[in-house]
Amino acid sequence: MAARPSAPRPPAQPDLKTAADLAPVLPMTAEVRDGHLWIGGVDTVELAREAGTALYVMDEAHIRTQLRDYVKWTRYHWPEVDVVYAGKAFMSLAMCRMVAEEDCCLDVSSGGELAFARRAGFPMERIYVHGNNKTPAELAECLDAGVGRVVVDSFEEMERLSALAAARGVTQRVLLRVTPGVEADTHDFIMTGAEDSKFGFGRNQGLAMQAVKRAIELPGLDFEGLHMHIGSQIFALHSFAKAIEVIVEFMREIADETGVQVRLLDTGGGLGVAYGVPDEPSTIKDYGKVVVDGIKEECEKHGLDAPRIAVEPGRSIVANAGVTLYTVGSIKVIPGIRTYVAVDGGMSDNIRTSLYDAHYEALIANKADQPREMVATVAGKHCESGDIVVNDAPLQCPEVDDILCVCATGAYCQSMSSNYNKQVRPGVVFVGDGAWRFVVRRETYDDLMRCEVE
Ligand SMILES: Cc1ncc(COP(=O)(O)O)c(C=O)c1O
Repeated sequence: MAARPSAPRPPAQPDLKTAADLAPVLPMTAEVRDGHLWIGGVDTVELAREAGTALYVMDEAHIRTQLRDYVKWTRYHWPEVDVVYAGKAFMSLAMCRMVAEEDCCLDVSSGGELAFARRAGFPMERIYVHGNNKTPAELAECLDAGVGRVVVDSFEEMERLSALAAARGVTQRVLLRVTPGVEADTHDFIMTGAEDSKFGFGRNQGLAMQAVKRAIELPGLDFEGLHMHIGSQIFALHSFAKAIEVIVEFMREIADETGVQVRLLDTGGGLGVAYGVPDEPSTIKDYGKVVVDGIKEECEKHGLDAPRIAVEPGRSIVANAGVTLYTVGSIKVIPGIRTYVAVDGGMSDNIRTSLYDAHYEALIANKADQPREMVATVAGKHCESGDIVVNDAPLQCPEVDDILCVCATGAYCQSMSSNYNKQVRPGVVFVGDGAWRFVVRRETYDDLMRCEVE
């Protein structure tokens, strides 16, 4: 049974763990050599000194393995599955190209993410476009780019898209986002599938059915199917199974009322990951079985043909592939209260701790073989008391100039980063086969001033 990720944490204690014990949250190629943490055959301590800190480091082999596992364990049950990487978790040109190489599709949620996909040469027919309030300009960009699918979120958007498509003489394949009203077993703030949601069409008062009928009749639209996303960081696979039951029943109602069969069912993302060593997320293999077999079985029960299926993982592709490296700048011991270890980054490169009370594992990369003998709070350098990267972290005894590594920061950290306090954003390095390269360079002060009008 998977642990609930948002369960209250017991007070932290020194746990004497070394980097070797942190394997569940570290990238798959992480190892300890000569007391240092190595990832992808690269010494992270040397890397930090050469590339500078703060620095996001991502293990290319880990990302590719996750993408391949999704393809393997979903298509194992049914060949007609699109694995759609959710670009909001982490996006760069290199990432888009990797997703394309691994035979996956890409979910974009804004004109900006679409622009990245286009610049990367990503095949447009493999793009799924999301967003609860796509602007008319963004919808036009989608049509002009020839994206595969637009996931329609509101009546207004449907009308706009239809008019824009009809004016261009094209037909756009669309899915309708439906909120199945199933609560995911996860943190409230990132739960989006319940009836009370800003996203999509609820089934109350027949809204979702009304939307389907409108999509079928509007010119310029090809109603292909349905989309749902019940939340994120979900450990309990039964949440997906329940939502599938509800949505397939709705597919049958659509067939009964309109005679139209849903040809594509997109079940969104949401599979949880290990942020702490005790976390036990479900495997991609089990997820594939629950989702893909679940849809096939439910369809059979209702006398429907199994549709093409799409899954949209984000976090579970990149979270554990990434770490953030910082340099320790100062250590403040408040006797009997707490020790703060201040690093050269903070809420500008990782907002999840202050936003979601997220918890991370940390270690000192140049003392990776030493036990975590103390507990300290890793603080950022911003003008906010809430600027904490890790609360009460078991840690090796820190010293100024140590390289501090925060684990599992590959998802929703760089993509949610900011320039608060005019902090330059860290670069992103991909490591693999003993080599490293910047895929996103560190920002400069000139970058900060690029949009200023003097
Ligand atoms: C529509 C949609 N699809 C996929 C995802 C990816 O979810 P996750 O990163 O939890 O896998 C999200 C995340 O919010 C989403 O909103």
